[in-house]
Amino acid sequence: MSLQANVEKNIGLLIILTICVISVGGLVQIVPLFFQTSTTLPVEGLKPYTALQLAGRDIYIREGCVGCHSQMVRPFRAETERYGHYSTAGEYIYDRPFLWGSKRTGPDLHRVGQRYSDAWHIAHLTNPRDVVPESIMPSYPWLAENDLDESVIQQRMEGLRYLGHPYTDEEINKAAEDLKGKKEIDAVVAYLQSLGTALKGI
Ligand code: HEC
Repeated sequence: MSLQANVEKNIGLLIILTICVISVGGLVQIVPLFFQTSTTLPVEGLKPYTALQLAGRDIYIREGCVGCHSQMVRPFRAETERYGHYSTAGEYIYDRPFLWGSKRTGPDLHRVGQRYSDAWHIAHLTNPRDVVPESIMPSYPWLAENDLDESVIQQRMEGLRYLGHPYTDEEINKAAEDLKGKKEIDAVVAYLQSLGTALKGI
């Protein structure tokens, strides 16, 4: 019996060899990514989120926006013509956790920064149908009413600094001050306006 027939008839051996082949193939694809500067270093001009943007990002997570909005423009013409430059790995270095998403009930948001005015976002989040009559996006009226919680922002930034986000002591010390007197919607808008702007104009 040939070796091939042996392998095909011996299910245990077939499973082990299949796992070996997939493991090697996987390692060859994945391991180099850990050492490529294009995936491990921030793109030029990328800054860690400011205290206000970071607080907005946490509210974005809390409200489940990622359930309807992806944050990854794929390198296809249909996408780049609609949204702008495709997303690159180096833009996500300060995204913990990442919010790529996989569901697009609404449009991708990775290049939405600076596309609309702050006033547009405030109107849209409070009641999307005021600015986009056919919209099926839910309203988030409480964002404009709730005071922004400034009590945990310093610990959040310290935690991120521990993971390598280059925050200075000064930025961390004045973080709570930066959030004082602001509403939740101010933080969400600041976050949205920052999205994808490092690569804008390419
Ligand atoms: C149930 C799905 C759903 C959820 C949840 C949702 N959206 Fe949307 N969103 C949409 C749809 C659909 C549109 C397109 C119509 C419109 O502009 O309102 C949209 C549009 C947008 C736009 C405009 C994008 C563009 O390029 O024109 C922004 C910004 C946005 N959403 C932000 C948010 C934020 C922030 C949250 C969470 C607080 C959120 N969305 C939650 C469905 C959703």
